[in-house]
Amino acid sequence: MFDAIEARPPDPILGLSAAFKKDTNPSKIDLGVGVYKDEAGNCPVMKAVKTAERRKCDEEDSKAYIAQAGPESFIKHTLDLVLGNAHPVIRDGRTSCVLAPGGSGSLRLAAEFINSAAPGSKIFVSNPSWPNHVPLLSSSGLTLEEYPYYDYAKHSLDFDAMMGSLKTAKKGDLVLLHGCCHNPCGADLSAAQWEEVTELALKNGFTPFIDMAYQGLGDGLDEDAYGARLMAEKLPELIIANSYSKNFGLYRDRVGAVTIITSNSEVAKAVGSQVVATARQIYSVPPAHGAYLVAMILDDAELTKEWNDELTEMRDRINGLRRDLVSKLKAIGVSQDFSYIQNEKGLFSFLGLPKDKVEKLVKEYSIYLVGSSRINVAGINKKNIDYLADSISKVL
Ligand SMILES: Cc1ncc(COP(=O)(O)O)c(C=O)c1O
Repeated sequence: MFDAIEARPPDPILGLSAAFKKDTNPSKIDLGVGVYKDEAGNCPVMKAVKTAERRKCDEEDSKAYIAQAGPESFIKHTLDLVLGNAHPVIRDGRTSCVLAPGGSGSLRLAAEFINSAAPGSKIFVSNPSWPNHVPLLSSSGLTLEEYPYYDYAKHSLDFDAMMGSLKTAKKGDLVLLHGCCHNPCGADLSAAQWEEVTELALKNGFTPFIDMAYQGLGDGLDEDAYGARLMAEKLPELIIANSYSKNFGLYRDRVGAVTIITSNSEVAKAVGSQVVATARQIYSVPPAHGAYLVAMILDDAELTKEWNDELTEMRDRINGLRRDLVSKLKAIGVSQDFSYIQNEKGLFSFLGLPKDKVEKLVKEYSIYLVGSSRINVAGINKKNIDYLADSISKVL
């Protein structure tokens, strides 16, 4: 059965991490891997998470299966966090929310549900996008179509091209949007642009599907959810897949959720029951640990504050590094304008260098980044930023 199976080529980002580990250059910098890193280069367990874990460990008296949709308080807090606790769609019971294994599991569960309801539906995905969107969504049976998103020459969102393409999306189609902190380019829609896309969805009838993997790492928890909340308010239907990997640092615990907004509460109940049935066909019951931690933190004012303060620190650090890198490059006389990096949001940006210069950074300067020149801004710190700016200036 398996004799004809060929090995897949190694994942480029994992290959980069392996090469970084082997590199003996004391100045080496890892800007490849997609997790938040602190000043010391670690991906830490957040303090509120540690406290919640200790408490959970003392309190938990059973490992029996949890409810299929996830713990009730997790669902309540997820809706409040993503949509804002006074959102009319929550009040009107137009939401169904189901816990799923991480943002990836949420994207896949939503895609499987959509494909079971409307097989082969078309979903528009931005070019570029998080590379895993393609296998995650297409292997459920959905048909993918790209829409242009980023202008590499101008280092900015190409909104006209995006809208030109989305004009062809019609009722029954889906449009995948990054809720904030676009991966890989960091170029987000402005409030006015969210409004335009919302109007187009209303006019042409397509259903937006928002991937919210970085809420709180751009401008703030509420600011980053602007587009999702607007669409929830204005549109009859909306899908949101959110992840707690980055904003709670719960990567390996696999916690996320699928929220589906429907035209009325009866439909929401029916949809919720079908999403749960879809999950049952794949993995049965979701993992509980991370969901309990999120619920415990958001249920407790003190823990919420501690978590929010740490998240704010992370966000401020990322935005500060963006500013510092741009001003250091300017100060050492680099003529290329890098100010776009300062305006972009979240963990990622394209440095905006051609492949040969990226290769030089990796091979000659031990600065590890993927070929597209995408960097994880959080991999920069006070100790390595001068070497990074200097090396970029040299390859230019
Ligand atoms: C845009 C985007 N969506 C979803 C995810 C999935 O996150 P998770 O680790 O929760 O599956 C990621 C992770 O990098 C991402 O960048």
